[in-house]
Amino acid sequence: MDRILVTGGAGFLGSHLCDRLLDAGHDVLCVDNFFTGSKRNLAHRLSHPYFELMRHDVTFPLYVEVDRIYNLACPASPVHYQHDPVQTTKTSVHGAINMLGLAKRLKARILQASTSEVYGDPEVHPQPEGYWGRVNPVGIRSCYDEGKRCAETLFFDYQRQHALDIKVVRIFNTYGPRMHPNDGRVVSNFIVQALRGDDITIYGDGSQTRSFCYVDDLIEALLRMMDTEAGFTGPVNAGNPVEFTMLELAEKVLQLVGGRSRLVHKPLPEDDPRQRQPDITLARDKLGWQPKVGLEDGLKETIAYFRALLQEGAGA
Ligand SMILES: NC(=O)c1ccc[n+]([C@@H]2O[C@H](COP(=O)([O-])OP(=O)(O)OC[C@H]3O[C@@H](n4cnc5c(N)ncnc54)[C@H](O)[C@@H]3O)[C@@H](O)[C@H]2O)c1
Repeated sequence: MDRILVTGGAGFLGSHLCDRLLDAGHDVLCVDNFFTGSKRNLAHRLSHPYFELMRHDVTFPLYVEVDRIYNLACPASPVHYQHDPVQTTKTSVHGAINMLGLAKRLKARILQASTSEVYGDPEVHPQPEGYWGRVNPVGIRSCYDEGKRCAETLFFDYQRQHALDIKVVRIFNTYGPRMHPNDGRVVSNFIVQALRGDDITIYGDGSQTRSFCYVDDLIEALLRMMDTEAGFTGPVNAGNPVEFTMLELAEKVLQLVGGRSRLVHKPLPEDDPRQRQPDITLARDKLGWQPKVGLEDGLKETIAYFRALLQEGAGA
């Protein structure tokens, strides 16, 4: 049994990761400031003997004793990370410095939840890890994109300078139960709009594509990456390479939810990438990993979650 710290563990991905780690018999410490995460995501674990939940902001130093660290703390959706952009950069950069400092003191292995946003609006398609990206340093998404890029730099400098045992995973769009209902991300947006019978908003003409990975698949990639041999640092892309247009996604959601929603078009937001698709060759080779859950099955689980949430009135 390892003592494992999960920062951002009350969020969408973090809470699923805590579940998997507890189920594997580990002792889990979840640290979160509840900016976008919620105790509700972990309510079913609060009485577990090997689970602890600590309110803490990772921009401040943390003194705990653990064997491994998953650093997930950071708002991930544009509405949330643009709400307080300075805090977003601080969370990525100061958060990384604090967690790397902790890992250094403890000689603990540390995994960074990075993002496909480090590729920006890419000219290369699909994106392999060797691609350096095309990121606007002064736009409204930069607090997140550049914050995450700087966090990666810090991870690799700690590895080179202090021989830290690091792992970096670049996560592509992931969806599933426990996504925030008001986070403005496309899958949750479409589902919530369809369940409420509201119009479904498509930005631009809907021909821009995205790939969507179901949460269970993504968590499996994080766990496998953490268990790779020392010296294998990544970065490794984790995501589903199967692409859909926004229009196709909206139609699939409508078909599964039923109801009377119509599709309406709005202008594209600033710096919205036209296309994003992971090249997962490295994850296949080094982690023996590839996504298993198809879009329709994943959407059914996610729709069931949001239906229950809206019925409770928690998504209002
Ligand atoms: N979900 C995706 O599609 C996706 C894609 C790429 C990268 N990621 C990365 O994965 C991680 C988790 O994303 P998510 O989708 O679960 O988002 P989320 O917003 O649900 O979870 C982030 C968690 O971090 C917490 N947090 C934010 N700032 C904090 C701070 N300063 N101190 C402590 N806790 C803080 C939030 O309260 C929340 O619980 C993030 O680092 C994100 O950048 C997610």
